Amino acid sequence: MPKWHWPIDPDKVPRIVVEPPGPKALEVVRRDEELIMQSFARWYPLVIARGYGPVVEDVDGNLYIDYNAGIAVTNVGHAHPKVVEAIKRQAELFLHYSLTDFYYEVAVKLAEKLVSIAPISGGKKVFFTNSGTESIEGVLKIARGHFKGQRPYVIAFLGAFHGRTYGSMSVTASKPVHRRHFSPLVPNVIHAPYPHPVHCPFKASTPEECGEYALAFIEDWILKRLVDPSEVSLVLIEPIQGEGGYVVPSKSFIQGLRKLTQEHGMLFAVDEVQSGFGRTGRWFAVEHFGVEPDLIATAKAIAAGLPLGAIIGKAEVMSLPRGAHANTFGGNPVAAAAALASMEVIEEEGLLRHAEMLGEELKKVFAEEVGDRHHVRGLGLMIGVELLDERKKPAKYLDEVLLKAFKRGVAVIGAGLSTIRVAPPLVIPREMALKAASVILEILRGYR
Ligand SMILES: Cc1ncc(COP(=O)(O)O)c(C=O)c1O
Repeated sequence: MPKWHWPIDPDKVPRIVVEPPGPKALEVVRRDEELIMQSFARWYPLVIARGYGPVVEDVDGNLYIDYNAGIAVTNVGHAHPKVVEAIKRQAELFLHYSLTDFYYEVAVKLAEKLVSIAPISGGKKVFFTNSGTESIEGVLKIARGHFKGQRPYVIAFLGAFHGRTYGSMSVTASKPVHRRHFSPLVPNVIHAPYPHPVHCPFKASTPEECGEYALAFIEDWILKRLVDPSEVSLVLIEPIQGEGGYVVPSKSFIQGLRKLTQEHGMLFAVDEVQSGFGRTGRWFAVEHFGVEPDLIATAKAIAAGLPLGAIIGKAEVMSLPRGAHANTFGGNPVAAAAALASMEVIEEEGLLRHAEMLGEELKKVFAEEVGDRHHVRGLGLMIGVELLDERKKPAKYLDEVLLKAFKRGVAVIGAGLSTIRVAPPLVIPREMALKAASVILEILRGYR
């Protein structure tokens, strides 16, 4: 069970003292808009001053229940004392000494921890990055490099989000705005259909059947008509699509995909940037599907909010030659210390189990009230409530619902076209999580 470490009373949250956005928030927004490139898709003007575990306070003194965890980052909550202490301790020792040129132990300790939790058997190795997109870039290079350039193709999935730099943008296919005006992209990426349980691209009657068709599409159309399997180095997939709408595929689809990569000698990489580090009630979401990947791309929650990412892979695959891949800040010592502390918190406070149980309860609460109209899905505390209209098409009022929740002290955002994205810090107490759910459900009652 999570412990409460923060100097506020959890029963007194949410607390709205000034209707948000208040005057101080508006002033920060004004300066932001003047000076910062506005290429972000922001949801509402929440201006953070401070965080307390699963609670955030804005600059006007309002307290919100945090259903976002930043953006699926602060899995152990904001300002967890153990993480703060680890950061302070490391900061007093040294802040930087490039790991790709020299050595330090805290990075080795973190690599030891990561290989111990990664669901890959046999020898494993790690490469540290600074972000999710950089982890994906690394995975693409590792896969092509592994085959010495002899397998130039990559299979990715429609609906996927992998990042915004050129390689990761090229495998991304969740919203046209991510790619529009930026071509030419990295070539030789093939996008296959992802088996969406509501909007299956095939005429299937169950999610499992949708998965079968999606697999058959890869086997019969892509690999028999478009590209020879011997030219494909990598199949890259999010085990649960994040930005695409918190979409959970069938177990048999992921298992079939893994088998297919093995039959053709392709590498199988999972993007766990959003789903990793306990979010789904396991260290990694792929564990729910009973398959072992060759490569795992991570970032976001790894270091409790500091910028860090890691690629974890089979030792024989993590074999780029000296000089072929490196960076300045990857495995930063302060971020590494925070990551080790954060993983200790997850273990000590039983957060995997908590996420699993609370996630099941929350799904039930949402499904009981709106399951007949909308689609509730997810694993652990990675829950999507896809808002649908009468024809079971994506509803148009997601933004309105999120704005209303914000005004009532629940910070929650969307994913995909119309999905409410429930991703609180794993330290959220049960009562607080249920309170936020009831606020959202009350708002949804206005849209029946
Ligand atoms: C699954 C997934 N992969 C990659 C990324 C990119 O991560 P970053 O924003 O750290 O570059 C994201 C970000 O949302 C993501 O959700």
